[in-house]
Amino acid sequence: MIAIVSELAALRARIGEWKRGGMRIGFVPTMGNLHAGHHSLVELARRHADRVVASVFVNPTQFGPGEDFGRYPRTPEADASGLQAAGCDLLWMPSVETMYPHGAQATVQVHVPVITELLEGAHRPGHFDGVATVVSRLFNQVQPDAAVFGRKDYQQLAVIRYLVGDLSFPIEIVAGPTLREADGLAMSSRNQYLSPGERPVAATIHQALQYIKTRITAGDARADVEAAATRMLQERGFDVDYAAVRHPDLREPQEGDNGARVALVAARLGQTRLIDNIEFDVD
Ligand code: PAF
Repeated sequence: MIAIVSELAALRARIGEWKRGGMRIGFVPTMGNLHAGHHSLVELARRHADRVVASVFVNPTQFGPGEDFGRYPRTPEADASGLQAAGCDLLWMPSVETMYPHGAQATVQVHVPVITELLEGAHRPGHFDGVATVVSRLFNQVQPDAAVFGRKDYQQLAVIRYLVGDLSFPIEIVAGPTLREADGLAMSSRNQYLSPGERPVAATIHQALQYIKTRITAGDARADVEAAATRMLQERGFDVDYAAVRHPDLREPQEGDNGARVALVAARLGQTRLIDNIEFDVD
C-alpha cells in the first residue's frame, strides 16, 4: 500500500528508516495529473532503487503571469492509485506552506546560469529559476540516491544535470524516454487542454521533428530546415515559439560540426502550449 505523506517530519522519519536499513531511494518529482509517461518513470526508478518516492506538487514559482497555474489539472486520488500500481512506495504531497515556509515570493532562489536563458527560458522568463528552486528543495526533503526526469522536458533535464553537478548533490540523475500516443504526440498533462479538433493536429509537432531530423542528417542547412519546420507548423495553425537544432548541451551547431544533435520545438495550438524534441546523430 502506498504511503501518502504531507508533513516533512513524517517524510524524514520514513526515509530515515529505509536508509538505516541500507536501502537506496529513487525519486520521481512531478506536478501530478499523472499519465503512462510518469508511470514509466516510476518503473525506471524502481530499477535504480529499493524504494521509490514520487512527489506531486504544482509549483507556483515556475509558472509565469498568465500561464496555466490556476487551471493546471489536479487529480490526487487518481495519481495515488496510478503510482501504487506502478510500484511507488511513498507519495510526497507537500502544501505550498510546507514547500515555501516564508511564502513563494520570499523563498531562497536557485538560479542556473546561461542554459536557462535559451529557448524555453527566453519564452518563459523565470521558469527555470522556479524549477531549479523547487527541485533543490525536493532533493533536500527526499534525499534520494537517484532521481528520474523525462526526456520530453529536454532543457529541464539539462538544467537539473547542471544544478546537481554544480551544487554537488550526491544524486544520480536518470533520464526516462518520452512515451508517445499512437500518432506520435508526446504524452503530456497539457494534452487534455486540446479540443477534439486540435488533438489530431497536435501530432504535427512530432512530424516536424522527424522532418528536421531527415533534412539535417541529409546535410541541409540548419537555418533553412528550422524555417521550413516553422512554416509547416504555422500552416497547421500553430503559433511557434521555436523550432531549433542544437548540440546536446543546447549550444548552436556551427557549419561542419558533426556528432549528436537535438531538435526542439515549442508551439501553441489554441490555448495549449506544447513542447517536444528528437535526438539524432549527424555524420
Ligand atoms: O517536470 C515537472 O513536472 C516539473 O517541472 C518538476 C520537475 C516536478 C518541478 O516542479
